[in-house]
Amino acid sequence: MSTRTKPSAATVALEPYGLERFAVALACAQGMHADDAATLAEILLRCDLRGIRSHGMVRLPVYLRRMAAGGIDPAATPEIVRESGATALVDAHNANGHVAARFAMRKAIELAERHGIGAVGERNSNHFGPSGEYALQAAAAGMIGIVSTNAAPCMAPWGGIAPILGNNPIAFAAPRADGDPFVLDFALSQVAKGWVRLAFAAGRAIPAGWAMDAQGRPTTDAAAAMKGLLNPIGAYKGTGLSIAMDILCGILVGSTASADLPHQENVALPGNVGHFFIAIQIERFIAPDEFERSVGALLDRVEGARRAPDTDAILIPGKIEGDKERAAAARGYVELAAETWSELLREAERLGVGAPTPLPAR
Ligand SMILES: NC(=O)c1ccc[n+]([C@@H]2O[C@H](COP(=O)([O-])OP(=O)(O)OC[C@H]3O[C@@H](n4cnc5c(N)ncnc54)[C@H](O)[C@@H]3O)[C@@H](O)[C@H]2O)c1
Repeated sequence: MSTRTKPSAATVALEPYGLERFAVALACAQGMHADDAATLAEILLRCDLRGIRSHGMVRLPVYLRRMAAGGIDPAATPEIVRESGATALVDAHNANGHVAARFAMRKAIELAERHGIGAVGERNSNHFGPSGEYALQAAAAGMIGIVSTNAAPCMAPWGGIAPILGNNPIAFAAPRADGDPFVLDFALSQVAKGWVRLAFAAGRAIPAGWAMDAQGRPTTDAAAAMKGLLNPIGAYKGTGLSIAMDILCGILVGSTASADLPHQENVALPGNVGHFFIAIQIERFIAPDEFERSVGALLDRVEGARRAPDTDAILIPGKIEGDKERAAAARGYVELAAETWSELLREAERLGVGAPTPLPAR
């Protein structure tokens, strides 16, 4: 079985590291410190390289507009406001979410080194993009990482049509021997809203099952879905998980519950998003070598399991994205939706930043 078919638009090909430098220059011109701009650009590029296009460079224009309008403070530095044993609370002070999330997971890893586990809540943050990036940060330190965030409302409670729940993504990562870390990372809606946004920008329909219109009727019209509701994963199980993640990321950390979070397009309003990060040190439970070998053996067994007749391959979360990243590196270019590129050029003009030249059409 292959990954879900996602709508594709007309594209522009760019040399990846030229694109990354461009993103850094845009973020710096908008007031970010150079190292924070580098963090943001690196994560956005990695999303595009790893096939998580819903959270790649497509997001940069709205982040820049939010920084310009006061919705994000580009120069803010997150701060640890409470710490006790294995837990800490971070106030992001309305910083960019990616920078805030890297900071908080660094703290969770440091706590786990001392206590075996680190649990860090973060408030007053903004949209942090792909949860998996921060879970992978723990895996890169040889730990298990678990990450969630709340998000502006886009789903209704099961049986309802009022958009009061976020699609609050969850990520889990673990290192393995001889291969990409396992990283499961998904929204609690059938797809992240970014995929609907990409379809909308390309003037394309979305697959049935992704969304409902504002009246709660199933729709394949991306414009109606943008104003409507995303369908949860697993029916009431998805909406139940959304509430659970809101309790962790909204209420526990003293942020705002999804129902009252502003949408990112309200560019002057601080996001008020909350996140939660857990790092677990493996050696407190089992020898790390043995753990990583066993995870590798489990994943090999899953990958090699007997397949259904119409299935080409069983895919492993983390390896899917690792394979895409290696393929993109071998190709030497990254593709952006033409609409995303036009938006980036508009931002470049506004900020007086020079843009790289796209590669010839292929
Ligand atoms: N910050 C936010 O507010 C926010 C909100 C929603 C989503 N997101 C992010 O959006 C991104 C995309 O989310 P999504 O829900 O659209 O992801 P998705 O539906 O594409 O699912 C991705 C996950 O499923 C795995 N996967 C995909 N196809 C598979 C297959 N055939 N077999 C086995 N595993 C498979 C992938 O490895 C990955 O772990 C994530 O990074 C998520 O964190 C962020």
